Amino acid sequence: MSSNTVKPALYKAGSTPDPEHSMTQAPKATRRETLKLAGAGLAAASMAEAAPAASNSPSTLTFPEVDRTLTDTHHVAEGFKAQVLLRWGDPLFGDAPAFDPLAQTADAQKKQFGYDCDFIGFMPLPKGSRSSTSGLLCVNHELARSKLMFPGTPKQLDPNRNKEMADIEMASQGHTVIEVALRDGTWEVNRNSKYNRRVSGFDTVIELTGPVAGHARVKTKDDPTGRKVIGTFANCAGGETPWGTVLIGEENIEHHFGGDPRGTSEEANHAAMGLTENVYYNWNKYYPRFDMSVEPHEPNRFGWMVEIDPYDPTSTPKKRTALGRFKHEGAGFAFAPDKRVVVYSGDDEVFQFIYRYVSRNPWKPGDDKNNRALLDDGTLYVAQFDAKGAITWLPLVWGEGALTPANGFNDQGDVLIETRRAAKLLGATPMDRPEEIVPNPVTGTVFVSLTKNSKRKDTDFANPRAKNKFGQIHELLPPGHDQGKPDHAALRFQSRPFILAGNPADPDSGAQYHADLSTRGWFTNPDNMTFDAQGRIWLSTDGGTDFGYADGLWAADVTGPGRALSRAFFTGPRGSELTGPCFTPNGASLFCSVQHPADDDGSTFDTPSTRWPDFDPALPPRPSVVVITRSDGSLIS
Ligand code: FEO
Ligand code: CA
Ligand code: CA
Repeated sequence: MSSNTVKPALYKAGSTPDPEHSMTQAPKATRRETLKLAGAGLAAASMAEAAPAASNSPSTLTFPEVDRTLTDTHHVAEGFKAQVLLRWGDPLFGDAPAFDPLAQTADAQKKQFGYDCDFIGFMPLPKGSRSSTSGLLCVNHELARSKLMFPGTPKQLDPNRNKEMADIEMASQGHTVIEVALRDGTWEVNRNSKYNRRVSGFDTVIELTGPVAGHARVKTKDDPTGRKVIGTFANCAGGETPWGTVLIGEENIEHHFGGDPRGTSEEANHAAMGLTENVYYNWNKYYPRFDMSVEPHEPNRFGWMVEIDPYDPTSTPKKRTALGRFKHEGAGFAFAPDKRVVVYSGDDEVFQFIYRYVSRNPWKPGDDKNNRALLDDGTLYVAQFDAKGAITWLPLVWGEGALTPANGFNDQGDVLIETRRAAKLLGATPMDRPEEIVPNPVTGTVFVSLTKNSKRKDTDFANPRAKNKFGQIHELLPPGHDQGKPDHAALRFQSRPFILAGNPADPDSGAQYHADLSTRGWFTNPDNMTFDAQGRIWLSTDGGTDFGYADGLWAADVTGPGRALSRAFFTGPRGSELTGPCFTPNGASLFCSVQHPADDDGSTFDTPSTRWPDFDPALPPRPSVVVITRSDGSLIS
């Protein structure tokens, strides 16, 4: 069915439909039951307050909705189990030490699952197969939250954190590759797999590739070649490439650099990326390269997309500079009709932009040499919306338009290092914090999550609410999408709203959903998204605690009579953010990351608001990967 032809009734805030009117039965009595599951000592599941599926719902989704919660633990729709598979500190290698939170070291952390899990990629084993029972789990570790990681750390971050703590913070970020397998209905990790790997901010050597490799503005005292960077961090979302690698974003890099950049050659550039002397980590105290007054080029070596080959643990990860430098959320892959590779990526900050990269050459199946160069040679574009939602993709090419020496751009390297400034000069449309941009492989359209922008005054087609606290999901329409041939490389797209988030019962929210939305179905602050084999959207949220409930996972049809009828599937423990939803190819297992549990007011390592997932007085709360399956192992729907 053409997604263009679907025009469901929208439930707008302030209109009067009964949000429960599609419910044919009253919700069941509350039931909460925690089950301990067998398997590797890692399993736990929760079944929670669940509403029954409506028999006459226009949605194709059948799971009973989970209630809106704010509790110490997670809750999944009735009939499903949620197994905690990987926790911060879990050993990833046969020789890795057990997690000891009172005596943590950087050496231990380098061999253990990192902090703040985010993006998840499931890469089947063997490579190239469609296995849904054996694979490599590729997981980002976004940030280190010192107050929840170290005993005795006060609520406000202590600038006197010692060097070992700084090293642990570096080692806890980056990426994990670990082999996993489904056995007798339970997922297990294989600590002895040859594929297991930690890429970290501490000591992993990463190669700069593309137009910025070797550029004068990425050369440093430690690396006069401008080609070898130590580490990656702030790794938020990501994407899987068609050739079996993952591409991970470097997002909020401003936390990691200290020292005063004013008066250096990079003063304006660093200001544009939010890099100031006010620093979250104090790594600059122990490592001069993180001091911008000493090494102003070092931040130019971060803010890129990093490609990792999980099937080759000896491979050198690559920072693909042709995709631009900004606060990359993730990477959404699609093919143009001629098989050129297209990568969508958002810059997650208020009034920043959405981007699209198009490779010069087409992908050739089986030609690894050709395919691995696709991300080094191509054109980066930024989106400009008109008043009716039509998009023009503006190329960021040196020498064209305003991108000339007169404006301080002396080569393509300058354009890419200062992508934000280049995009603004071209007239890109400032957005409400672009998070993920993910092509839907079934509909051929592209979904953009815009998480919020309370600073917005002037509104436009894609950012239609001033003081936007709730966020929205916008749908980009490449030409040909309604004939099954979307041209993701076209220079002009159309677009339309999908959902304006918020609580539609609040007439001031401006929220818009399907008219049959239940009181559980609304959400705020959409962030990561994925699509199941039917093309339905599954999305996680970041910010629900601001509205008195925990973040979670919601799902909705994107076409047909159930379009934009979102339904609540999973909620996390208090203080957590849900990230990284990822299905196995058969749609029967759904992985997601529970990031920073207990990251709420007053919580510290010593006095957390929850000790999820272990609930052991000797253990702190631990960011963890959860895998959700239906109790009988059938499709998640
Ligand atoms: Fe790390 Fe944009 O969320
Ligand atoms: Ca995110
Ligand atoms: Ca976020």
